[in-house]
Order: sequence, then structure tokens, then C-alpha cells
Amino acid sequence: MYRVSVIGTGFVGLCTAVCFADRGYMVLASTKNKDKARLVNKAISPFYEPSLKEMLQKAVKKEYLKAVLGREEAILHSDVTFITVGTPSKRDGSIDLRFIRQTAKEIGKALRKKKGKHLVVVKSTVGPGTTENVVKPILEKNSGKKCGEDFLLCFNPEFLREGSAIHDTLHPDFIVIGEYNKKSGDFLEELYRDFYKDALPPMVRTNPATAELIKYANNSFLATKISFINTIANICEKIPGVDVKTVAEVIGKDRRISPYFLRAGLGWGGSCFPKDVKALIAFSKSLGYEPAMLETAWEVNEDQVKHAVERVKEKLGTLKGKKIAILGLSFKPDTDDMREARSVKIIKKLLKESATVTAYDPKAIPNARRILGDKIKYTTSAVKCLRDADCCILVTEWEEFKELKPEDMSENMRRPILIDGRRIFNPKKFSVALDYWGIGLGKP
Ligand code: UDX
Repeated sequence: MYRVSVIGTGFVGLCTAVCFADRGYMVLASTKNKDKARLVNKAISPFYEPSLKEMLQKAVKKEYLKAVLGREEAILHSDVTFITVGTPSKRDGSIDLRFIRQTAKEIGKALRKKKGKHLVVVKSTVGPGTTENVVKPILEKNSGKKCGEDFLLCFNPEFLREGSAIHDTLHPDFIVIGEYNKKSGDFLEELYRDFYKDALPPMVRTNPATAELIKYANNSFLATKISFINTIANICEKIPGVDVKTVAEVIGKDRRISPYFLRAGLGWGGSCFPKDVKALIAFSKSLGYEPAMLETAWEVNEDQVKHAVERVKEKLGTLKGKKIAILGLSFKPDTDDMREARSVKIIKKLLKESATVTAYDPKAIPNARRILGDKIKYTTSAVKCLRDADCCILVTEWEEFKELKPEDMSENMRRPILIDGRRIFNPKKFSVALDYWGIGLGKP
């Protein structure tokens, strides 16, 4: 069995490491963050992700997974290394390759001392051409070895969704191998054949630049699909009796469209869609092509937030001194991740209008506090959040909010106005005692 190392213990790195360890591979997870290494070695997950805690505990206990601080140790004691370091956005939307370059340099230096074959796999999302034009030369220069012969190289994107990352790793729809040469691709294919055994997903082998673009195209398509249905939602709101949920449900039955990623709402956030759409726009522009459709998808997403705040103002007039209850802070349910969360944008706009904001989220309050500090109040339950509010905006569709009844709102709020930003409540039931507005719902 090949030994695996993972560089970077963020969301993708740790989930990848834990899944390999769970299948019996010896895994070294390399991080420069001492606190993170200590947490992982104590089997404590540094962030919330369903099933991660249990799998991490099992892996550490059985000694299949160990976090190490150095890169060299990780490379020398493994056969394949996944690079999963961050690729943050720069001001112009293009991605910052600082961590990729640094990691490639460190891996290169370690490879100089390495005997035997080694495969380097870039998993971090990078622009087309990066693996071959940036990572490969740095690896070659620092190792003094030749790529494709002395060491092997692939780009292998991940398609993990937060909240179901473990499931997505174990049951992907497909695997993409962007191989520097056939030998490199053969190695990674062999590893995945061993990992998935009889449940091997369809595997596509292509060159690294195509694989790099596939990742951007995948996320940009999904983000555009959501912006599309949000556009339809905004049209629906102008037509009495028309509901975007019905429209989405029916067009989703057309197999060419599919029902997924057709939920209208306050728009997309998270660590991938905004960053990747922005990066593809910047990349495309750098090649001299204006990707108008992606730019529009981005604008529609920004407008959804403005649209919701406008609705609150329509209902309340001035927001000065009004108390707004925000249900849900994380960028989506089942995660404590606040990156590019719509809640932050909405709250900032409300604060700018001098509203007071009270928020509740089952998991994300500690992370939200780091961004919003004490500019808003936090509560320990949804009902407490609703108390004396002039308006409630449902921002993230956590399961527990689906249990709320109209009375929870009408009996606790000062003014029972509800903005259902993710369409989780039954409009008929909630319209009886409440001034209910759901995204994409034309008033009867
Ligand atoms: C996404 C991709 O799905 C995944 O393949 C990639 O590897 C990383 O980015 P993630 O960001 O975890 O995953 O969440 P996802 O479930 O895709 O949702 C992204 C955003 O879109 C969320 O803010 C969510 O609320 C929003 N969304 C999703 C909608 O508004 N409507 C939908 O129908 C689906």
C-alpha cells in the first residue's frame, strides 16, 4: 500500500488525509501551524464537518494518521504527496500562488534527498497552466531531478462540498487526473483503483491545464446556474401567484437541466464559488477575453443581498433603531464556515442603515464573532433571537429552523415580518399570522 502525505490541513487537506487513513493508508499530514498539528494529533478537528471528528479519532487512535510540522519528514516517509494549501484571491480576483510556490520549493528540496519514486499531486485549485508552468519548474530546480522520470506530477481537482466532504470524497461522481505524462497518470490511477476498489468512479485522464480548467468550469457553471434561478426568482416576484419553487421543480425534471443547484435564495457564498468565479473572470481577462456571462452571474449574486435589504426597508421604512433578527450565519448549513457568507454582507448593510442586529446560528457564532465582533448581538437559540425583533431574515437553512412555527415568530417578535431567504417555510401557513415574503414568490 502506498504511503500518503498531505501538505496543508485545511478543509480539503484534512478530509483527504482522514479518508485515506480510514481506508488503511499510512498518512502524514504536514502543517506549519503548531496548534493545528497538536489538535490533529489529539484527534480534535480544528473545524466542524459532519463525520470528521469520529473518523479523525479512529485514524489517530489506530496510528494511521499523524500530523507533522516539517515538509521533509512528510515527503521522505511517503510515496505520494497531495498539495492542498490555500490559493487565496488577490485584489484583482486572480489567485495568489505564494503558498503553492513555497510548498513546491519545500517539496523539491525534500525530493533531492528522496530515493525511489514519488508522485506529487496538486489538489489546490489553480489556474490553467500552473501545474506545468509554475509547480514543475520549482520542483525540478529545487530537487535537481527531472519531472516525469525522477519524480511524477499530476493535477487532481477536488469537488468536495462542505457539510458532505467525507461523503463526497468516498463517493465522487468522477475523478479527473491531469497528468504531466502517462507514467504520472498511471501512478495516480493505480492509487485510486486501490482506494475505491469495486466502487471506482468514472475516471477521466487528461492534461494538467484541461483538468485545471475543468475545476473552474465546474464551480462557475454551478454558481451561474444558481444566479440563473435567482434571476427567474426575481421575475416570479413580479407575477402574482407565480412561485420559483414550482418553476425550478418542473424544469429540474428535464434531464438536460437536472434538479440540483436550482434552489433560489440569497445567493452563493463559501470558500469556492466566489473565489473561483472571480479567478476565472480574472484569468479570462488576462487572456484578452471578457467573460460577460460570468460577470453577470457575479452581479446577480451581489444583487440578491441588496434586494433582500431593500425588501426589509420597504416593509419597515427607515431601519434606524429597528431590531433585525438573523437566523443562520454560516455560508450554508452543516458547517461553521463563514467565508463569503451572505449573512455578513446583509448584516453590514443593515448596520450601515443604523439597524440593530441579533443573530443565531447553531455552529458558526465563534467564527462570526471573529468577523463581526460585538457589532451585533448573538443568542443561544432561534426563539431568543426573534424576541422583540421588527423583522426576521432567514439567511441559512439549518434543519432546526425548519421546525419553527408561525407562533414562534408572531408571539416573540415586536412586528411579525419574515423574510424567507432560503424558502424553507410554507408560505400559506406562515402568511396567516405573519407578513411573509419568500424569495421568488409572487404575491397572490
Ligand atoms: C462547492 C462545490 O459544490 C464543490 O464541488 C467545490 O469543491 C467547492 O465549492 P461548497 O462551497 O461546499 O461546495 O457548497 P455548495 O453546496 O456547493 O454551496 C455553495 C453555495 O451555493 C452556498 O452558499 C449555498 O447556499 C448556495 N446554493 C447552493 C444555492 O444558493 N442554491 C443551490 O441550489 C445550491
